[in-house]
Amino acid sequence: MAGFSRTEACSVLLFICLFLSFSEARDHLVGGKSDAWRIPSSESDTLNHWAQKSRFLIGDSLVWEYDASKDSVLQVTKRDYVTCNTSSPIETYTGGSTKLKLEHSGPYYFISGAEGHCKKGQKLIVVVMSEKHRHVLGVSPAPSPAEVEGPAVAPAPTSAAGRLSGGLFMVVLGMVLVVM
Ligand SMILES: *[C@@H]1O[C@H](CO)[C@@H](O)[C@H](O)[C@H]1NC(C)=O
Repeated sequence: MAGFSRTEACSVLLFICLFLSFSEARDHLVGGKSDAWRIPSSESDTLNHWAQKSRFLIGDSLVWEYDASKDSVLQVTKRDYVTCNTSSPIETYTGGSTKLKLEHSGPYYFISGAEGHCKKGQKLIVVVMSEKHRHVLGVSPAPSPAEVEGPAVAPAPTSAAGRLSGGLFMVVLGMVLVVM
């Protein structure tokens, strides 16, 4: 096989950098906007709706922006999430700007620390994908918060297109190794 020209080799390297940058850890602003940590205005505006559209990977971070004088973020057990029990959170976050790094796969449960807000729907489940999903093509769809929340919420279609960059990166790397 003829070797790649310098230009072609550069293009390949550029692609590798591009794909690498796509698989970097990301910050997820909860709700997608800065005032989103509040009681949802409607059934279709819930934070879990937002969460179902995102893909959370180990190393990513959740970011909350809220009015520190009126609200807080409680990380709780599944039981306390379901019953909106704010009395013994795993972690309490205050201060108006909270950043939490997702260190393990599986579900994380959050409720508002403001009186009565959780009961009115200010709650969030984030399901973190395990590390292996980063590099495998055609993996099973992301587990939906619906699975842990019960049948009240219809499971959202998950994007299979998700993050294929890891897999594409491996393909490109393979090509480069073959050529060199
Ligand atoms: C809330 O949780 C605490 C600690 O686990 C428990 O003692 C209390 O009974 C719970 N309250 C309700 C209303 O379930």
